[in-house]
Amino acid sequence: MIDNKPRVFVGRRLPQEIIDRLELNFEVDLWDSDMPPDRESLIEHISKADGIFSLLTERIDEAIIESSPSLKVISNMAVGTDNIDVASATRHNIPVGNTPGVLTETTADFAFSLLISSSRRIVDADNYVRAGHWKTWGPSILLGRDLFGATLGIIGYGEIGQAMARRATGFNMKILYNRRTPIEPIDGINASYATVDQILLQSDFVSLHVPLTPDTRHMIGARELSLMKDSAILINTARGPVVDQEALVEALRAGRPERAAIDVTNVEPIDMNDELLSLPNVIIAPHIASASVATRLKMANMAVDNLIAGLSGEKLINCANSEVYDK
Ligand code: DGY
Repeated sequence: MIDNKPRVFVGRRLPQEIIDRLELNFEVDLWDSDMPPDRESLIEHISKADGIFSLLTERIDEAIIESSPSLKVISNMAVGTDNIDVASATRHNIPVGNTPGVLTETTADFAFSLLISSSRRIVDADNYVRAGHWKTWGPSILLGRDLFGATLGIIGYGEIGQAMARRATGFNMKILYNRRTPIEPIDGINASYATVDQILLQSDFVSLHVPLTPDTRHMIGARELSLMKDSAILINTARGPVVDQEALVEALRAGRPERAAIDVTNVEPIDMNDELLSLPNVIIAPHIASASVATRLKMANMAVDNLIAGLSGEKLINCANSEVYDK
């Protein structure tokens, strides 16, 4: 417990056990809603805070960071920190916490579920039955693509990419991977390094697992999509802007790649007039790859652990800008 409790702004309603932990350690300013605060409220609340418990829906930019003279820690309940101007936080000596590790397997489970759902057309099949189209067994009804023996290309071969490869190994898939630097072979996974273009040209499934950075924004655009096989399926559980969404709409409309299954979109939530929603060959989920009961609790607890450490003057347990400690 911390004496003279620091003030922490919490950007959303959270499970009671997380609120209890926060209240034990901090004076909690809770945004008691299931919707995120608007920008004006965010600035108003953060201006009085020593710490922030943020979610990926809160854009913490330089203006927000500078609105709070007392701000000492930003703790994001996510592994990704692209909603935060981390460089600005570093300039202001503010450590940014994140939640790596705990969501790896849950996210890979979901990415692989998207892969199976799109290849075996599970959403189409459910819609077909509910719409009353199921009149008989037919040799050509709802044909999908096999996983076994197919090639999975993994772009971004960090923890989640590797967890994806372990799942693909169990399905007897051939695995190609790309990351900035090739790594030593991993026990139990038979994966070969390939360039992004080689992956796009050769894979039956391409799954994206890169963080969103200036280098990865739109890394999959019209040119890259045109390299994919006609029969290929694109999976995106990383960040929406990694793919040029307008180019994706055009590519899916032309049937190359054949399908996509995505958990993330360019703008979230997706605009209900977005053309992507009019296409039958894409599955769209509302950014839920890490959404299991156990994992979300672990993420929230890690975010609290980071706040407790940071506001006690210790190093954050998981810090996205550890260079603040080198100063
Ligand atoms: C993350 O942690 O970055 C995920 O996208 C949220 O589940």
